[in-house]
Amino acid sequence: MAKILITGGTGYIGSHTVVSLIEQGYEAIIIDNLCNSSIESLDGVEAITGIRPLFEQIDMQNRASLDDFFYRHADIKAVIHFAALKAVGESVEKPVEYYRNNLGSLLNLVASMQKFSVGNLIFSSSATVYGEPDSLPIMEFHPVKPAMSPYGNTKKICEDIISDTARVNKEFHAISLRYFNPIGAHESGFIGELPQGVPNNLMPFITQTAAGIRKELKVFGDDYDTPDGTAVRDYIHVVDLANAHVKALDRLMKENQDDNYEVFNLGTGNGFSVLEVIKSFEKTSGLKLPYQIVDRRSGDVEATYASTTLANEKLNWKAERTLDEMTYSSWNWEKKARKMD
Ligand code: NAD
Ligand code: WQD
Repeated sequence: MAKILITGGTGYIGSHTVVSLIEQGYEAIIIDNLCNSSIESLDGVEAITGIRPLFEQIDMQNRASLDDFFYRHADIKAVIHFAALKAVGESVEKPVEYYRNNLGSLLNLVASMQKFSVGNLIFSSSATVYGEPDSLPIMEFHPVKPAMSPYGNTKKICEDIISDTARVNKEFHAISLRYFNPIGAHESGFIGELPQGVPNNLMPFITQTAAGIRKELKVFGDDYDTPDGTAVRDYIHVVDLANAHVKALDRLMKENQDDNYEVFNLGTGNGFSVLEVIKSFEKTSGLKLPYQIVDRRSGDVEATYASTTLANEKLNWKAERTLDEMTYSSWNWEKKARKMD
């Protein structure tokens, strides 16, 4: 049973990936500093899989702690690196904190991995690196644009650090996965996303509004050049996203890919507008969602969705879950987490 380190594994996408890994027979070990997650997510993972993964509270900005970790776990075969700060707006306010945390963690990780001869890395990147796309669907070879936020820039720079490392060290195999818009939760309702404070993203804002925590949802702009005027995104169910990491890991562990650094888009390939997400939520929850159209949010792109051909072919993976399954599971989780059932 190959032992895999999941950094940021108590977080939203990390915890779902830990479940997928365990279900596929991998041994998961998590490190996280709990700056944006709770240890309780391990209870959820255990309730779903019957296995409580090993956990160590480590801040990845601390190189000595990371080295000590790898020294004590010499049998780690690969790392999936989720740990990062991820709020776009906050990154504009606190750029140094974002650069220090996201770049520092990755630099420490790559250095430790090389020191301890751990040669397989999967990195959580983001569709944000494409900026405003010139054409749709977005393909992996499309240009990476100047970042629209310090957060986005950390993803671009991390990709560069990884690709430069892979170029000079052929024993270092890495995959960057560019996520589009992950939403939803595990169907059990035992794990999901529960942001602290005011959510930045659409889906948690919707579920918090439905839960009565927020008065109404603000829809940012209805004058885009899209079928209903609201912005279009490629929403992907977090369980599909998690499963893609296992496929990427399978590919890395075979070590027979042509290139030791690869990039894949992870989306469904379909775009949905904000109003379509709201309609789906109303249908699956049976609730009426109060919302108001307001001005566009600065920095938002009009429409983005992925070409998934490369991931379909090379990772042998395809997103399977529908938008209704995404909105249903998001609400199921929010209700359970807030004990509203
Ligand atoms: P999350 O905040 O739920 O998980 C990230 C985890 O990393 C948290 O548990 C946090 O405590 C931990 N962490 C942060 N800095 C750390 C450090 N220095 N040391 C140890 N742990 C640290 O976020 P998520 O939504 O699960 O995102 C996971 C990854 O995917 C991130 O890298 C994020 O940038 C990327 N991503 C997320 C989205 C999205 O919409 N959720 C989209 C694209 C990419
Ligand atoms: C989706 C749509 C909003 C909130 C961000 C990051 C990206 C990635 C995913 C990390 C947009 C609209 C939103 C609201 C709204 N994260 N919206 N009212 O901006 O596509 O992507 O998260 O890597 O990097 O930029 O996601 O969920 O914020 O917005 O109308 O209260 O919903 O305008 O069209 P986004 P989002």
